[in-house]
Amino acid sequence: MLGMLGRTRLLSALLVTGSLFLAACQPTVNVSRATARLQPAPPAPRDPRLVPVRPSAIEGRRVFQRAQCVICHGPEGLGNGPAAANLKSPGKNLMTDFFRLIGIRLRGDQLPSRPANFHNPVAMRLNSPFSMYETVTRGRPHTAMPAFPRKGGKPAYGAVSFGVNLTDEERWHVIFHEWTYQSTPAEIRRGKRLYETKLIGVEGTALTCAACHGTAGNGRGPRGAQLSRELWHWARGQGPGIFTDINLMAQRKPTELYQAIVDGRGRMPAYRGKLADDEIWAVVNYLYTFVYDYPWGEGAGR
Ligand code: HEC
Ligand code: HEC
Repeated sequence: MLGMLGRTRLLSALLVTGSLFLAACQPTVNVSRATARLQPAPPAPRDPRLVPVRPSAIEGRRVFQRAQCVICHGPEGLGNGPAAANLKSPGKNLMTDFFRLIGIRLRGDQLPSRPANFHNPVAMRLNSPFSMYETVTRGRPHTAMPAFPRKGGKPAYGAVSFGVNLTDEERWHVIFHEWTYQSTPAEIRRGKRLYETKLIGVEGTALTCAACHGTAGNGRGPRGAQLSRELWHWARGQGPGIFTDINLMAQRKPTELYQAIVDGRGRMPAYRGKLADDEIWAVVNYLYTFVYDYPWGEGAGR
């Protein structure tokens, strides 16, 4: 018992002297000189653009074919390309990497990996354009979905890569091409009609979506302009949602827009029970066409 105590004492004495020694070895800092040398930070860019280009679904279709997305996702994005049936999830993880270091290659059975079907609305409504952009840029770890980074970019840990590079612009184009698969031109047309002409009772009057959000989706409809005068200021989040702002829309999932419409948000009334489910989804799909070039001429954009 005593022996144990003695050993702990010795150990703590060693620790104390050791840390004192280490502290003594630290370089001294002359605080007054350091502050004199501090430079003011360069001003942040005023409107950092998440999306450097107006995405075009037509341009995206070309990238989709050129970059061989079709061999897995199929010519129409149904997830049924010629390679789809034989894809495997790469079995790379920290443990396999560790054993590889000491010369042992661990590999169990690889699971099949199924390419996404972009026509599946249940899956697509949980994606934001930005999350898809990330997947294409970095690949999806532990699946067959490869990375398509810009030149010099790296795939995510555990993701595969064919060494095919795409520019930032090409990636935005291609994911908006994939985005169009979750809807149809007829649905977009329906959404546009509802957005611009369907009168829905709110606050004792009947208003269209466009009355607040504007026919151009810029938040400047007649009632929107009035709202903006009543509010402290109508920057994003306080005035009517601005659907022409791609930095906003690229980060929104269809389910989030659906939820805002059904439950209301801020000064926007709730539309629960006033619009049918399929009507809301039609409008939601239409709203995204404010930020990219929709190929069939029915969208809000050019
Ligand atoms: C080698 C086959 C393969 C190729 C080539 C490929 N993908 Fe994929 N992709 C997959 C697989 C497999 C998945 C499903 C991953 C998973 O299980 O989560 C996927 C998923 C995705 C997703 C995520 C969809 C979602 O709902 O989460 C996007 C976006 C995507 N691919 C875009 C592309 C684009 C764009 C290209 C071409 C530039 C491309 N893919 C090329 C196999 C491929
Ligand atoms: C009375 C004016 C008004 C009407 C009518 C109106 N909105 Fe809104 N809407 C707003 C305001 C204000 C906001 C912003 C709320 C906030 O974030 O504070 C908003 C937000 C939204 C958002 C969320 C945007 C985001 O930032 O995620 C969506 C989606 C939306 N509106 C869709 C619609 C649709 C579709 C219709 C028609 C069915 C509609 N709105 C009708 C005023 C209106």
